Amino acid sequence: MNIRKAKLCDAGEIHALMQPYVRQGLLLPRPLAYICENIRDFSVAEDPQGRILACGALHFLDEDVAELQSLAVDAGAQGHGLGSALVRHLLKEAREYQAWKAFALTHAPEFFYPFGFEKSDMGQLTQKFNRDCLRCPKLNLCHQVPVICDVFQAPLSSDEGARARHEREALLAPALPA
Ligand SMILES: CC(C)(COP(=O)(O)OP(=O)(O)OC[C@H]1O[C@@H](n2cnc3c(N)ncnc32)[C@H](O)[C@@H]1OP(=O)(O)O)[C@@H](O)C(=O)NCCC(=O)NCCS
Repeated sequence: MNIRKAKLCDAGEIHALMQPYVRQGLLLPRPLAYICENIRDFSVAEDPQGRILACGALHFLDEDVAELQSLAVDAGAQGHGLGSALVRHLLKEAREYQAWKAFALTHAPEFFYPFGFEKSDMGQLTQKFNRDCLRCPKLNLCHQVPVICDVFQAPLSSDEGARARHEREALLAPALPA
């Protein structure tokens, strides 16, 4: 299985992959045009034949915070670690961009806990609430649970964790008093 950044030509497959979960109310609808405009947010997992079996997106909200969005694994491919692999990939990407926090709004909070996410509340995500939730038609019917993690504490692998902590310390060092 290959996990890679999405290309524009993947947008249709990503859109189709998400549709069953959008209909079930598990994912927010993302029109094809939205996926194209934001294709750089998306990563995909493809099988050896190049078919896209899973997708997920990392969307930056401000200088510190990234949102994991549109995480979907094809029904026939679930339970084989693809969802986990995509979350690890997106968290690694968040580290590369030096976002400090990553969050998701999800119906499946338990899925995210092994990656260091904890249950949160919208009071900690005011920028998300003001920008998106207030305009959402489901605002008063929303059952999504916010989960949030410290990107640099997230357990990806011990090597990556050590490297990320080192990078973070190096980044913070100039701000420390002499
Ligand atoms: C949730 C989803 C992304 C998981 O992907 P997956 O590839 O099936 O998950 P994995 O095989 O990586 O599973 C890893 C672990 O998460 C658990 N898990 C899977 N789906 C879960 C869910 N909906 N809720 C809680 N835990 C879940 C698995 O049991 C597994 O646990 P284990 O390691 O103890 O065996 C996938 O089921 C999906 O696309 N669901 C529909 C869309 C959706 O709900 N998106 C999610 C949230 S924003």
